[in-house]
Amino acid sequence: MKKIIVTIDGWSSCGKSTLAKQLAKSLGYVYIDSGAMYRAITLYFLRNHIDWTEKNAVDEALDNVNLHFIYNNKSLHSEMHLNEENVEYLIRDLVVAEKVSEVATIAQVRTFAVAQQQKMGSEKGIVMDGRDIGTTVFPDAELKIFMTADILVRVERRFKEMYEKNPNVSIEEVKNNLEMRDYIDSNREVSPLRMAEDAILLNNTQLTMEEQLDFALKLVAKKL
Ligand code: DC
Repeated sequence: MKKIIVTIDGWSSCGKSTLAKQLAKSLGYVYIDSGAMYRAITLYFLRNHIDWTEKNAVDEALDNVNLHFIYNNKSLHSEMHLNEENVEYLIRDLVVAEKVSEVATIAQVRTFAVAQQQKMGSEKGIVMDGRDIGTTVFPDAELKIFMTADILVRVERRFKEMYEKNPNVSIEEVKNNLEMRDYIDSNREVSPLRMAEDAILLNNTQLTMEEQLDFALKLVAKKL
């Protein structure tokens, strides 16, 4: 059976990973969360007090960063491991979310992450979500989806998710973080968030999870 690459890009917290996981499961494909890689690098920089405005410091630090996705039979998806430590939970913290967009503007960081992402897609049969997957990582992908949703809906979704882990988080904090990340992600010099010319727009403000999966599966069926 023919295998394809599906890319899902879009704004922060509009459900990219939810759709990517659903799609990968339905198709028996591998799901890769590229944002987790930028988050793990940010965690490493924060923990080791790396001055990421210094080019040499970044190069040296990246030499010591090993990233792997390892499948977890309990959570049923691949989790991010940084230097053999499972950091899947830690990288979702607001402390990391506040710095990740800044770290993701650094050219060397992007080169480092993109090379690994391209390797993961070499055999196709992959769904990868992020910001530059359809434009930079896999410009020849067979199916590109660009997701968006109303900002208030996105804030509410992310707030619910974060509140479960940390009841001290406020809705303002979450809204400010999303707006800041959207701004930095779409205005950076290297690979800014853009909808690829051949991507299909999916606005899921009014859609249920089943409806968005159905929409995406129909697109896949056309490509196969
Ligand atoms: O998808 P996410 O919210 O976990 O991504 C975290 C940050 O990583 C996001 O604000 C920008 C950056 N990112 C990126 O620059 N390129 C990607 N392909 C994925 C994420």
